[in-house]
Amino acid sequence: MKTILVTGGLGYIGSHTVVELQNSGFDVVIIDNLSNTTIEVLDRITSITGIKPRFEEIDLKDKEAVMHFFKYYKVDGVIHFAASKAVGESVQEPLKYYENNIATLTYVLKEMIASDVSNFIFSSSCTVYGQADELPITESAPTKEAESPYGATKKMGEVIIRDTTKATNLQAIALRYFNPIGAHESAKIGELPLGIPQNLVPFVVQTAAGIRKELSIFGDDYPTPDGTAIRDYIHVVDLAKAHISALNRLLNGENKAKCEYFNIGTGKGSSVLEIVNAFEKATGKKVNYKIAPRREGDIISAYADTSLANKELGWKAELSLETSLASSWKWQESL
Ligand code: UFG
Repeated sequence: MKTILVTGGLGYIGSHTVVELQNSGFDVVIIDNLSNTTIEVLDRITSITGIKPRFEEIDLKDKEAVMHFFKYYKVDGVIHFAASKAVGESVQEPLKYYENNIATLTYVLKEMIASDVSNFIFSSSCTVYGQADELPITESAPTKEAESPYGATKKMGEVIIRDTTKATNLQAIALRYFNPIGAHESAKIGELPLGIPQNLVPFVVQTAAGIRKELSIFGDDYPTPDGTAIRDYIHVVDLAKAHISALNRLLNGENKAKCEYFNIGTGKGSSVLEIVNAFEKATGKKVNYKIAPRREGDIISAYADTSLANKELGWKAELSLETSLASSWKWQESL
């Protein structure tokens, strides 16, 4: 049985990935500092899979603690989710983002190399493409100047990993996520709401639940069919499964380069209005909305060409937009 360290394993994408890892027969150790989640998630994972993952409450900024972890635990690979992810906050507090997302990445990589752990999966983002010149976006599209410190940490993270794979035994896969939504079908894990949601689907869900008065749709004058911005929304369980495929690729030595990049999306773009309509159809709930000015830093349209991930990882998003939105609603109702 292979043992996998999942950093940020009690977070939104991390917890869903832990479930899929356990379902696939991996032994999981989680590191989390509980900065954006609660310890209860550990029991919820256990109640889904019947297996309690080992857990260490470690802040990865604590270099010594990271060193001790790798001395104590023998792991076969690392899936690295732990990071701060609020775009707006990163503009206000850039150093927090460079410390939380970049310094910690270097500590983890350093200790992996010292302990001869060579398999690494990185949470990257389609934000590295900015507004791509061509749609759908392929992995060979040029990366662009980041719109925020958060985006910069994803771009820099990829560079740090690439350079490290060139100089050491490390082999890595960076998964460039499009927009993750939804929750586990059990409604036992999902995205924990903290404050006013910045992302579209959590805001839609809270509006339908009456927690928010109305959704502001940021811009209806974009050059898209209905004037609202387009994204590629992927069910978090499909996204979680991509990590298992990527990990197996490294463990089985099937990777074609020391450092590889894959788009993880559905390949289908949906506008903000289409999301609102699909949510209403999937749940029968009404979403009050108004049209508001564009949000600064937003791109017009982004959706993935997923053919490389389909072919090389043997992975494909399977769950529909309606299933994803219905699962977001079921999760909200369970809260
Ligand atoms: N939107 C609204 N109203 C809201 C919230 C969002 O109209 O209340 C719109 C946005 O303007 C955008 C779309 O819904 O057009 C999606 O917005 P999200 O904030 O949900 O997602 P983004 O695509 O802006 O951001 C996501 C991740 C980031 C990541 C980025 C990469 O949240 O972490 O994708 O492109 F950096």
